[in-house]
Amino acid sequence: MSTSPIAVFRRRDVLRIGLSGAALLALAASPLGAFAQTPPAGTPLKIATIGAGREGGALGTLFAKAGHPVMFSSRHPEQLKDLVDAAGPNAKAGSVDEAVQFADVVLLIVPYGAIEQIGKEHGPALAKKALVMDVSNPIPQRDGEELVKSVNEQGGAGIVTQKWLPGAKIVRAFNAIGSGQLAGLAHRQGEPVGVPIAGDDKNALAIAERLIKEIGFEPVAVGGVAMGKFLVPRTPLGGVHTPDEIKQIAATLK
Ligand SMILES: NC(=O)c1ccc[n+]([C@@H]2O[C@H](COP(=O)([O-])OP(=O)(O)OC[C@H]3O[C@@H](n4cnc5c(N)ncnc54)[C@H](OP(=O)(O)O)[C@@H]3O)[C@@H](O)[C@H]2O)c1
Repeated sequence: MSTSPIAVFRRRDVLRIGLSGAALLALAASPLGAFAQTPPAGTPLKIATIGAGREGGALGTLFAKAGHPVMFSSRHPEQLKDLVDAAGPNAKAGSVDEAVQFADVVLLIVPYGAIEQIGKEHGPALAKKALVMDVSNPIPQRDGEELVKSVNEQGGAGIVTQKWLPGAKIVRAFNAIGSGQLAGLAHRQGEPVGVPIAGDDKNALAIAERLIKEIGFEPVAVGGVAMGKFLVPRTPLGGVHTPDEIKQIAATLK
């Protein structure tokens, strides 16, 4: 039976919310039962961001304000004090090492080229996390034409992130919604903004879906990590779309 932090507090929460005896028996009997996979909505998850710049700062702040303990991290955590203050009492900052140790869920929000090194340093620990949400994109101006060409030749951002982080439960998400728009689009009136997500691990997808809803967006699963190559800026799925638009666009992509 799993002993991950998520599995542990999941059982505690099931008891607290008072499921029926039959449901509890089913849970005890099945290491992969529904609650053994996805913690119930409202359960705080420890979230770390690796990268706490424009996008990492904005997303981490939304999760902290939604009630999750968040540790922002970068190579220079001492520079993150203003971000932590603005994100409120659920937020703190630490080194990447500390953040990886702290988290149930890791948001990877760094220049794409940095992921390979992060994988070398933290790959085994990241492989144990319930979810590694990959928000990073290969961008020629930042990562260099060579790297972007190589990533594309290998199958795109999802496949390459998975190669650099073997065993990690990767879900690409939020890749093409600008940092400056996130707070304004969250919980928007009327139809929510859709967030295309791509990943292979069902449990990680379910956790990502839950977290995305909690900060006021609507997740739309578009396929496995191989579809992650479409979740970058300047592709048809980039920018702001309704969930239905995302489904229609995704159906045209291969
Ligand atoms: N900005 C957006 O609107 C947006 C939207 C969607 C997706 N994204 C993607 O998100 C990623 C980050 O973009 P950004 O605009 O937030 O960049 P940014 O503002 O430059 O922030 C990058 C962050 O990554 C950290 N970092 C860089 N190298 C690192 C390493 N080796 N280990 C740990 N932390 C490292 C930086 O801190 P230190 O240098 O102090 O370590 C900084 O906190 C990119 O891949 C981008 O394509 C951005």
